[in-house]
Amino acid sequence: MTSVSNLGYLVLGVSDLDGWEKFAVDIIGLQSGRRVTGESLALRMDDYAQRILLEKSPEDDLLAAGWEFDSDEELDAFVERVRQSGAAVSQAEPELASRRCVPRLFTCIDPDGVSHEFYTRAARAAGTDPFRSKVLRGRFNTGRLGVGHYVAVPKSVELANAFCKDVLGLKVSDHARGEMAPGVVLEIAFLHARTGRHHSVAIAKVPFPFKKRVHHILVEATDFNDVGLAYDRCAKAGIPMAMELGHHPNDQMFSFYVQTPSGFALEFGHGGVVVDDSTWDVRQYAELSDWGHRAHPPGKNDSNAH
Ligand SMILES: [Fe+2]
Repeated sequence: MTSVSNLGYLVLGVSDLDGWEKFAVDIIGLQSGRRVTGESLALRMDDYAQRILLEKSPEDDLLAAGWEFDSDEELDAFVERVRQSGAAVSQAEPELASRRCVPRLFTCIDPDGVSHEFYTRAARAAGTDPFRSKVLRGRFNTGRLGVGHYVAVPKSVELANAFCKDVLGLKVSDHARGEMAPGVVLEIAFLHARTGRHHSVAIAKVPFPFKKRVHHILVEATDFNDVGLAYDRCAKAGIPMAMELGHHPNDQMFSFYVQTPSGFALEFGHGGVVVDDSTWDVRQYAELSDWGHRAHPPGKNDSNAH
């Protein structure tokens, strides 16, 4: 079955573009790209023209996930397969493709209203404009693994799982069930795309009402020191933590979670594993973290309390 290659970009609807730019550039280490004043800001993580696109919106939530293909032939075969399966996929107007910096774009809306967007040949920044972070010691781990991951909190876990597997063609990496805070049990399914980042999407079932579509997004650094350096920048700037430094036993990510200006969290990590389907065993984990990741109490920091 033709499946997506990797999660290549994220589109976030944010109410505070200026606050987001400071957070993304000065604290997290991304680089500002194309800007439409008052409307949108592209954020770079590598040689791509944009990896995270911020669009002015009162939603403060995930709007779209961009899925990359290696060639036009693969993209066309995927779209044809999705159409045959009965899912509604349509070609986007050239204006939207241009905003996404891709030559052509297909879209399909998931049961929670997130637009899944399919493309190939995304624009790179001009050769004279290499990626530069103001603060990173290393670089972001992107390339064939894509932008990072997001953790969805869908209205229906069953429908979300079916969409990820049947439409996107993602495969299960593993499952985890554990306490994220005393008495607060989460169940999460982790799903990977073809190039093998441990998860491009995870689907979380949470035992409390959650107002957003996304719990957090992840960016990964190649130098583990950048996790500590970013943690220190967050602390110095007084940005609320969502979860302290810790380590996940399934994807081996060493990370912390900080609250973004939109209320959902950003996980800043290092060391995530890459799945090789020919040898991978799907496992069930009884804990989300083997150490750390202490959650800040709901109320004091409400990114986990929606
Ligand atoms: Fe994560």
